[in-house]
Amino acid sequence: MKKSIVPPLLEEAFKKAVQARKHAHAIYSNFHVGAAIKVLDSDKIFSGCNVENASFGATICAERVAVFSAIAAKGVVPFEYMVLVTDTDPLSVPCGLCLQVIAEFTNPEFPIYLGNLTGVKEKVMLGDLLPRSFTSFS
Ligand code: THU
Repeated sequence: MKKSIVPPLLEEAFKKAVQARKHAHAIYSNFHVGAAIKVLDSDKIFSGCNVENASFGATICAERVAVFSAIAAKGVVPFEYMVLVTDTDPLSVPCGLCLQVIAEFTNPEFPIYLGNLTGVKEKVMLGDLLPRSFTSFS
């Protein structure tokens, strides 16, 4: 990863994402994903893995499992960053559906760290991946 300020507990969050990835239920795609999201001003890190379903549309991505786990445990709280771990080259970014969910609870400056099994490799901002999220019904 390019030299930049490392946020608190990034290595722990990476490890949690790697660990969660081991629990992925990915028997259809064989694409295993782990994610972790850190709560701002807290040591709490929540993780998720993708959970697939025979009815493919019922599948949920690792990122959304992490976000929803955090909200289930803490409510809607400020988040500091997310870590995403796949075993791909090039690195994977969150899908559009997950970006929209992340946008619901964060802001365009929210950092998403992309990694593979060897570590965190890149930092991207939510706003670069999803410059204009859907925000309003009116
Ligand atoms: N997947 C994720 O977990 N996160 C993403 O951002 C993209 C895709 C999962 C969903 C499915 O289980 C598998 O990867 C293939 O799409």
